Amino acid sequence: MADRGRQRPVGLVTRGTTNPNRLRRVDNWIVETCGDRLRAAADPLVVDLGYGATPVTAVELRDRLAARVRADVRVVGLEIDPVRVAAAAPAADPPGLTFARGGFELAGLRPTVVRAFNVLRQYDESEVADAWRTVTDRLAPGGVLVEGTCDELGRLAGWLLIDSTGPRTLTLAARLTTLESPARLAERLPKALIHRNVPGEHIHALLRALDDAWQAAAGLAPFGPRQRWLTAVGTLRSTGWPVLDRPHRWRHGELTLPWPTIAPT
Ligand SMILES: C[S@@+](CC[C@H](N)C(=O)[O-])C[C@H]1O[C@@H](n2cnc3c(N)ncnc32)[C@H](O)[C@@H]1O
Repeated sequence: MADRGRQRPVGLVTRGTTNPNRLRRVDNWIVETCGDRLRAAADPLVVDLGYGATPVTAVELRDRLAARVRADVRVVGLEIDPVRVAAAAPAADPPGLTFARGGFELAGLRPTVVRAFNVLRQYDESEVADAWRTVTDRLAPGGVLVEGTCDELGRLAGWLLIDSTGPRTLTLAARLTTLESPARLAERLPKALIHRNVPGEHIHALLRALDDAWQAAAGLAPFGPRQRWLTAVGTLRSTGWPVLDRPHRWRHGELTLPWPTIAPT
């Protein structure tokens, strides 16, 4: 009867596709962007929501945070599919890494950081705002949700940082050595934006501007794709896009913008 009074997990069981190292780009960004929040937290609790058919990305998240943020971080992998919760049990390493059944209601936990990757992709766009609110209402004070999507190998990714006031930033990230064109990032936009890549929408204008800047920097290709990306992002900023972060993040193939500049119209 331990579950009496506990809310039913909120959400749907969806495809469980995952891959080792698929989420390294967003994990590195979480280390840098959310590290101070976790260092300051009385309880450094992180939820990996919807870890999929195997818990590999939850294991990696714990390893990265324990090595680079604080050794006593606690990662809880939550899955709505009880079969996947049972399958993850051998990978648990309590108290730093545990697995449980749960959905957007976070199984009664109050984490400082929630990573939800490739979860909302299979929901309807109309369900996104409620899912965000259900999660953010349950965060620890000052907590954040990092929600996004990536391709199977983690070479193209897009994610949002969301707090109790709503979305704050969009980050796009690509493996530069295999990037033909930044237009490819359109395939991996978070659910709230993926259907908005059409003329008249800010995200469409952003991807056009980024692609134009990348093409204009083609002459730098012999110096490597990193140099080309740095130049393209610099051009974007000089033409009025309020690019956040400093070039040391851009070097990783990242681009972060405030939400209001790319929010659906
Ligand atoms: C595509 S897998 C993503 C796995 C991993 N996060 C990754 O990016 O590689 C999506 C998983 O999210 C789970 N899921 C979907 N909705 C959920 C919810 N509301 N709460 C918890 N898990 C959920 C599904 O059951 C599925 O296993």
